[in-house]
Amino acid sequence: MQQQTASLVFATNNAHKLSEIRAIFGDKLNILSLADINCHDDIPETADTLEGNALIKARWVKERYGYDCFADDTGLEVTALGGAPGVHTARYAYPDRHDPEANTAKLLAALSNADDRTAQFRTAIALIQNGEEHVFEGVVRGEIATEKRGTEGFGYDPVFMPEGMGKTFAELGVEVKNRISHRARAVAKLVDFLNR
Ligand code: IMP
Repeated sequence: MQQQTASLVFATNNAHKLSEIRAIFGDKLNILSLADINCHDDIPETADTLEGNALIKARWVKERYGYDCFADDTGLEVTALGGAPGVHTARYAYPDRHDPEANTAKLLAALSNADDRTAQFRTAIALIQNGEEHVFEGVVRGEIATEKRGTEGFGYDPVFMPEGMGKTFAELGVEVKNRISHRARAVAKLVDFLNR
């Protein structure tokens, strides 16, 4: 008999993230999106940490929809800005909406006189499985470029240069990014855990 692939909900509808995660898991795991389980809720992200927000989202799906689930939250932590925008990364430019163009413009302006352009992307993934909660973290260190470069990816990819690469994520492309990114590193820990 053919073995059925296990399913797990990824609490997102972000098409970029879904395809990144599905590429990382391949055919080992059937990843369902929020739309796939008919969840169209605007899940509140009210915690003051990435870990806290990831847990809120995973618990929301488990408690209301009954699925084992994982959720992620990512922040860009810039040294010269004391770790900002951090948990506010998505709504850095405007508190009430996500505008990637405005976010990168605000970041470049905030660093226009900065000598230290170091930063890191950090992802927290919360998994709820078999009644237990687990959190995994992935970090990629790098620098903020002085201008936008490249066309691939999303969000802050045109201004984030991972350490030692000399190019932005948007120049490096999805394949390279998927090997070294914050999310890839957090997902690698999730995969190790699920395969244990
Ligand atoms: P989220 O928690 O994954 O939704 O991410 C919060 C914010 O970080 C959003 O504004 C995203 O655009 C940005 N972000 C998350 N992951 C990435 C990435 O891999 N590259 C660039 N920006 C990202």
